[in-house]
Amino acid sequence: MNVLVTGGAGYIGSHICAQLCACGHTPVILDDFSNAKPDIPARLQQLTGQRPVVYRGDVRDAALLDHVFAAAEIGAVIHTAGKKAVGESVTDPQLYYENNVHGLLALTKAMAVHGVFTLVFSSSATVYSETNPVPYREGNAVLAGTSPYGRTKLIAEWILKDLAAADARWRVALLRYFNPIGADPSGLIGDDPAGVPNNLMPYICQVAAGVRPELTVFGNDYPTADGTCERDYIHVSDLAAGHIQALEYLAAHAGVLEVNLGTGQPVSVLGLIETFIKATGQPVPYRIGPRRAGDIPAYYAAVEKAKTVLGFEAACSVEQMCCDAWRFAKNSYGGI
Ligand code: NAD
Ligand code: UD1
Repeated sequence: MNVLVTGGAGYIGSHICAQLCACGHTPVILDDFSNAKPDIPARLQQLTGQRPVVYRGDVRDAALLDHVFAAAEIGAVIHTAGKKAVGESVTDPQLYYENNVHGLLALTKAMAVHGVFTLVFSSSATVYSETNPVPYREGNAVLAGTSPYGRTKLIAEWILKDLAAADARWRVALLRYFNPIGADPSGLIGDDPAGVPNNLMPYICQVAAGVRPELTVFGNDYPTADGTCERDYIHVSDLAAGHIQALEYLAAHAGVLEVNLGTGQPVSVLGLIETFIKATGQPVPYRIGPRRAGDIPAYYAAVEKAKTVLGFEAACSVEQMCCDAWRFAKNSYGGI
């Protein structure tokens, strides 16, 4: 099947493209490369032996979407394109609503016109209100976007649920990612944020590589075992595999599926740093700093639904996530 992957040159999208190739599908990438390196298609070719078809452009461009759907027989769409920095979404909400909400509307409109009704959507654990007990469980959970970014994800979920309620042809999987980290074991693709990383693992890698002098741990006075925040880190390759399972599920089921993709295992900030140091042998100098505004002490995924409905189970250990992230970082920062 030809699968259109919006944002397919990005961190998660590129890993999804690699998995699609491994499973005999053909990824068709639509990406404006606003947050992707130009050599990603070549790296994907090196990794998979298959040069992906790439359309460079904006997912809001109706004419481009028309062209893409007319040119290739697309069987399903995986929509990862969008903006994802929480802090930036607070200072520039317009950018987030434009990209993430308008982008989804333009895409689903083009899909319906071209008779494509199967969509896997990159949602986020951020749609869960922090008032929910952990682990966060699909179903009766209280949903609430806590930032403009989070609200774009929640609105997108609502839009897709409303579309499916109005037209029974829609088959939609809302995949709520927890904290994807790591990289393909080849070291060819991975998380390579521009500028100062917002997220913990890319920051750890840059400190280990000597690109930055030290890491600041944002607070050690949280009500957790070691005082630092706990998250559910999942290997990006496991996460990507979940998308293939979602496509298989949607081939047999109409309507909307909402499901978590996580490991169900909380890991603290200090726990991740210590595992990284042990697994890679690299020192990571750090100091304890103040809390970061908006951080939640601890959350992780309930994983039963993903297992029962999709047959999904995260396979990689935290050590593996650290080693793979580091392999990619070493390649990116000059073979340290
Ligand atoms: P990313 O920035 O690496 O990938 C997004 C890709 O989309 C980039 O290649 C970018 O160039 C492209 N893009 C952005 N706006 C576009 C537009 N308007 N038109 C076409 N292309 C556009 O981010 P990622 O980490 O791979 O995240 C992918 C998706 O998963 C996002 O929707 C994000 O919100 C969601 N998500 C990510 C995480 C995470 O921790 N990385 C967690 C939860 C959810
Ligand atoms: C953040 C976003 C979330 C998004 C996710 C993945 C917020 C509030 N949430 O989640 O919406 O889905 O990224 O993109 O921004 N940390 C440090 N030092 C650092 C960086 C991080 O101590 O230099 C800590 C943070 O305080 C947090 C943990 O590491 O406790 C994980 O942080 P991060 O990787 O940014 O992910 P989240 O905050 O969980």
